[in-house]
Amino acid sequence: MHELLTLSRAARLVGVSRGELQKRIRDNELNTFEGKVSVSDVLRAFPEARLEDDSALERVRRIKAAAAPRRDQEIGLPRPEVLASRLTCVSRELTEAKAELGNYSELVNAVSEKLAGLEELDEAELRSAVRSLTSWLDELLRSRPRVPRRTAELLARDTFLRMIAAQIKLIPSGHEFFVDGTDSILEAGLRHGLALRYGCTSGTCGSCKARVVSGDVLKVREHEYEMSVTEQHLGYVLMCSYTAVTDLTLEAAEAHDGADIPLQQIPARVKQLTPATNELAILHVQTPITQRLRFLAGQSATLALEQGAAARLPIASCPCDGRNLEFHVRREAGSSFSEAVFSGAVQADGPVFVTGPEGNIVLAEDAVDPTLFLAYDVGFATIKSLVETAVATDNAESYHLCWAVPREDGFYMDNRCRAWADALDNFTYTRLVLDLDVAPAQAVRALSEGVNRLEEQARCQVYAAGPASFLEAVRLWLDEARVQEERRHLLPVT
Ligand code: FES
Repeated sequence: MHELLTLSRAARLVGVSRGELQKRIRDNELNTFEGKVSVSDVLRAFPEARLEDDSALERVRRIKAAAAPRRDQEIGLPRPEVLASRLTCVSRELTEAKAELGNYSELVNAVSEKLAGLEELDEAELRSAVRSLTSWLDELLRSRPRVPRRTAELLARDTFLRMIAAQIKLIPSGHEFFVDGTDSILEAGLRHGLALRYGCTSGTCGSCKARVVSGDVLKVREHEYEMSVTEQHLGYVLMCSYTAVTDLTLEAAEAHDGADIPLQQIPARVKQLTPATNELAILHVQTPITQRLRFLAGQSATLALEQGAAARLPIASCPCDGRNLEFHVRREAGSSFSEAVFSGAVQADGPVFVTGPEGNIVLAEDAVDPTLFLAYDVGFATIKSLVETAVATDNAESYHLCWAVPREDGFYMDNRCRAWADALDNFTYTRLVLDLDVAPAQAVRALSEGVNRLEEQARCQVYAAGPASFLEAVRLWLDEARVQEERRHLLPVT
């Protein structure tokens, strides 16, 4: 049973990223069968995997903690009724296994009865019958299917994880993610960096409608939106109001680039304004609970204050939380928005009108290659959102972030970057003090040294955000490293 595992499940079991598994497949260390890997191959490829501890789960928790902003509540056990339903499904499988054992038991009884019948035979017949019976039994026991110990451990762990979390496969994209704890399908999908279609998140708008192709779901929240009878018969549910009881295949709409997401206008409020340095402030904006901003990492929004000042700014937070938005505001002479922020005119709880999303630099979908993020100064805002999303989707083989600033005291979120590098085995971070007034060749050399730990630049997906002079240096450096145009994602920040 369960001899084949999906990539997501196998990665979770042995505590590595999907990107690492995909690399092993590319290097022919692992075979795939219809997109799945066998238990024995996984154990052969990861002999050091420690199945008896919680490393896989712990790693998933670390990734989430590092990738997403802290949530109001920690992930806990699923709701009792969900847990009960999952246990029922797993029990069903254990019952099937027991039935198989019962078959063996019946067989042994039959053999025993046959042996009893031998009493009637004469000595010659008896010797012959006993010989054939013994060799038949020997052969039967020899060929009896046995589950190796490590395989049994892996399957037991798989059973446990299936009780804690159900796996969802989306069609047509093929994206996979797990639903943990008390999450709805929508919450889990967003947390895994997927751009699912949604609106209110509270069961009123119907935007998150999706069709259950196989598997069982459970309603975890009442919803006002009424599904038509036809939709109900076809298996449609609201992702914001249902969770997965068993593994699911779900037909759901996803955004693939900025054009798939409509422009939204949301009256929001300033949640917090924190100075990061003398020259830069972090602005936290919160939307109403029923009207979140749907966007993709790398996009921007326009913020308008009550007094009329407005600015278009990159969204620095993860799209997994469309309610709590983060913006990095630089002190800038001549910008009425910046002046309002630094003069104290913008206060917590004050109104701010959000229009967005805008722009179309987004993560290359499903790219598994090493990913290089390059930020200059406040270009870090865009890169931060991209990093958080990339880490949540967990597709790439490895990540390297190089943050360049004009002055040593400019790394205003250095701790966040170090936390990513500490939490993730495949994440590295370098800091670079870089004066953009130097000759381009000098900037290129500095960049080269800044990312010198990175191998195989040519295979990287590269995301860079900063002023035009920085992007020009990046361009020259990428030319030198022979990085193809389609792997370059450059975002000018003024
Ligand atoms: S997001 Fe509006 S009903 Fe689910």
